[in-house]
Parts: sequence; structure tokens; C-alpha cells
Amino acid sequence: MSKKTATDGAKPCVVLGISGSIAAYKAAEIASALTKAGVDLRVIMTASATKLVQPQTFFTLSRNPVVTSLWETPEWEPEHVAMAERAALLVIAPATANILAKMAHGIADDALSSYVVSHDGPVMVAPAMNPRMWKQAAVQANVEILKARGVQFLGPDCGIVACGDVGVGRFVAPAVVVNAVRAQLEARKLAAALAADGVRFKKRRIVVSAGPTREALDPVRCLTNRSSGKMGYALASVAAQAGHEVVLVSGPTALPRPAGCRIVEVESAEEMAAAVKAEFAKADLLIMSAAPADYRPAHAAASKIKKSGAALTLNLEPTEDILGSIAKSKKAGQKVAGFAAETERVAEFARAKLQKKKLDWIVANDVSRADIGFDSEQNEVEVHTAAGATIGMPKMDKLALAARLLALFLRG
Ligand SMILES: Cc1cc2nc3c(=O)[nH]c(=O)nc-3n(C[C@H](O)[C@H](O)[C@H](O)COP(=O)(O)O)c2cc1C
Repeated sequence: MSKKTATDGAKPCVVLGISGSIAAYKAAEIASALTKAGVDLRVIMTASATKLVQPQTFFTLSRNPVVTSLWETPEWEPEHVAMAERAALLVIAPATANILAKMAHGIADDALSSYVVSHDGPVMVAPAMNPRMWKQAAVQANVEILKARGVQFLGPDCGIVACGDVGVGRFVAPAVVVNAVRAQLEARKLAAALAADGVRFKKRRIVVSAGPTREALDPVRCLTNRSSGKMGYALASVAAQAGHEVVLVSGPTALPRPAGCRIVEVESAEEMAAAVKAEFAKADLLIMSAAPADYRPAHAAASKIKKSGAALTLNLEPTEDILGSIAKSKKAGQKVAGFAAETERVAEFARAKLQKKKLDWIVANDVSRADIGFDSEQNEVEVHTAAGATIGMPKMDKLALAARLLALFLRG
């Protein structure tokens, strides 16, 4: 069935379902972040959720009326049917054992569960419950039913839950939900852009590298760089939400893990090289957005280097050139995009790297600018192609840029 507006309007519509978990207060952070990100947020709360948090909170944060009952609607059309016409995505966060059971079995006995059976777009759930509840055979059977139907699970995490028990069942960080929702909305734009150009969806294996590396100097010190990993995480997140098989090879970062990706964590440039080469052998596309170290200490001391007051000279040796090695093993049909973070003569250095490493694309950014690049939320880049074209992409949010870059790489 075609939707009336979905993301075609000015703001994409997302339905946030909140059920009666003690983590319901954390949904306020999600509602606030999504509204600020330009989402037309429609909140539906279960009766139990309203015992834990006031609907007024979500009314104020979403700037839209909150649905708490099937029977109090000012319109002729039931609200759960009207919303389903508009919504691009349903996310239930937190999701109780009860709502998971109702979803798995098509029970529609209140506003949220009735909405669930009216919604025909993508669905995400972020469960939150006591670890004993999560382990229950009935709960796990419902989770399997929902996963088999394509419902995306965000968590649960392992850790201490509200009652003090430790185990799997903890609600994921609100940022994980926000990022997954935003990546899903960007993935929809990506799909629309490709469809407009007549590109049919084909599932690809995509490897994305992200973040810095750490090169040990001694057991407590390391050499690293300012890469935050945000651009790579955004690329992995949007690609996964678009339905591709994504492996994220990540250096140390503090970022929330993107949903739907397999993550390979590495620390040094040597580990990153090994992981990228192994994953690239099975991939269609590699996007090297990581900033692996070019040099590492020639010898890492076995014990902590003591302060002596005298000058200390470090002897550095080059690390493996990952893109150089990849260029040699690249098979027909495999594509590689590199990144060039430069502080001067950006386009010139980027083009030289593109040619030397036999890349298909290089994404160049000027990291001397404080408003874009390393650790910022936004980026502005120029993409140089192997065919000699240059495509400028204006300053935008890294998730939006990820969708634009992927549209280019997946077309090629
Ligand atoms: C203080 C409190 C906290 C609760 N926290 C959770 C929880 O984190 N996860 C869960 O599955 N149920 C939790 N429950 C139980 C649910 O609220 C209960 O199963 C309820 O029927 C769920 O209804 P709903 O799914 O319609 O919101 C909690 C109950 C109380 C009283």
C-alpha cells in the first residue's frame, strides 16, 4: 500500500512506542534528540508506561499530542490507522517482555499494540527487562519470531539493570536508538536517490574501516591521532540500514556501536591491516575511512618507561600501507574508496593518493578547518574519481554525507 507522505514531506514521520519498563524515562532523551534532528515524532504510550513517565513530557519534547488510548481521538479516523499512513518507521523503546509477546502474536488490545498491527514499514525495538525475564524461553521464542519477520533489535546490553541484577537485558544507550533511527531515515533517502537513477537494489558486502589506531610505546602509553571514527560509523550505519551486509573494522573509539553491522575491533595499524585484508577478500566494496598510523615506535618497551628528566628520542618505523596492499590484491568487480585528510593542498595530495593506490574514489577533506573533519558532527568534502571527475559535497551532517557518498559508490 502506498503511503500518503512518509519521508516525502518536509519532515519524516517516526512513531516512538513507549512501553512500561523502568527505562521509560530514557525515552525522553530519544524523543528530544529526534525532534531536534527534524523528525515529526509521534509518541504512543502504553498504560503501564504512563505510570512511570508523564505523557506531558513527550507532548512537550515531540511538540505533538501523545496517544495513550484507542478511544480518545479528536479525528474521525482512528489515530493508529492515520499514523500508519504517514510513518516511515516504528521504534519501540523501551520494549517490555509484554509488548514483544503481543507483537509476536498479533495481539492488538491497546493503542500501541493496535498501531503495531497497522504499521507496514520497518520496525525497531530496544528491549529492556530483568536478565531473568530476557532469558525466559517464552521471551526468547517471541524474539526469534520477531527477528525472522525482519524486526530490528537494538540491544539489549549486558550490565547492571535497575533492580541491581547483572546480565543481558539492559536498555541500550539512548544514542544507539537515535543513531539507528537517523541512519534508517538516511538509508531511505539513499534508496530513493538510487531508485530515481534507475539503480536496482543489490545486496553488497561492504567493509568500512573507521577511527584511529593506537601504537604502543610501552604498556601504558601509545601514539594515536585525532580521528573520532564518526564518518566511518555513519557510513557503516547507513549502509547497514539500507540492507547491505556491513563489516565495520574499528579502531578504538567511544562511539555507540551502529546497529546491524558486524564489528571487528582492532587497536594497532598492524591489526587493522590484517582485519581489512581478510574482510576485503570477501567484499564488493571497501571504504577506508580510518586513520591508521603511518608510523609506530620501532620497539614497544615491555615495562613502563620511567621519567628521567633527560630528553627522550623516539625511533619510529613505517607501518604497512593498507591501501597499497589492497590495491595489489583487488579483483575485478571490487571497488575501493579511500579518504584523504589533509591540512594543505588538499585536492592535489588527494589526487596523487588516488592514482598511487589505484583507488576508485578518494574523499578529500580539509582537517585544518575546525568546523568540519575530525571529531566534528559535520563534514564538507570533494570526491575525486578514477575517471578524473571531481564532485563537491557541501557541508552537511555526517549521516547525510554518508548517504550521499554511498549513493555514489553503489552506483559505480
Ligand atoms: C516499576 C516497574 C518497572 C518495570 N520494568 C519493566 C521492565 O524493565 N521490563 C519489562 O518487560 N517489564 C517491566 N515491568 C513490568 C511491566 O510494566 C508489565 O509487564 C506491564 O504489563 C507491561 O505492559 P506494557 O507492555 O503494555 O507496557 C515493570 C513493572 C514495574 C511496576
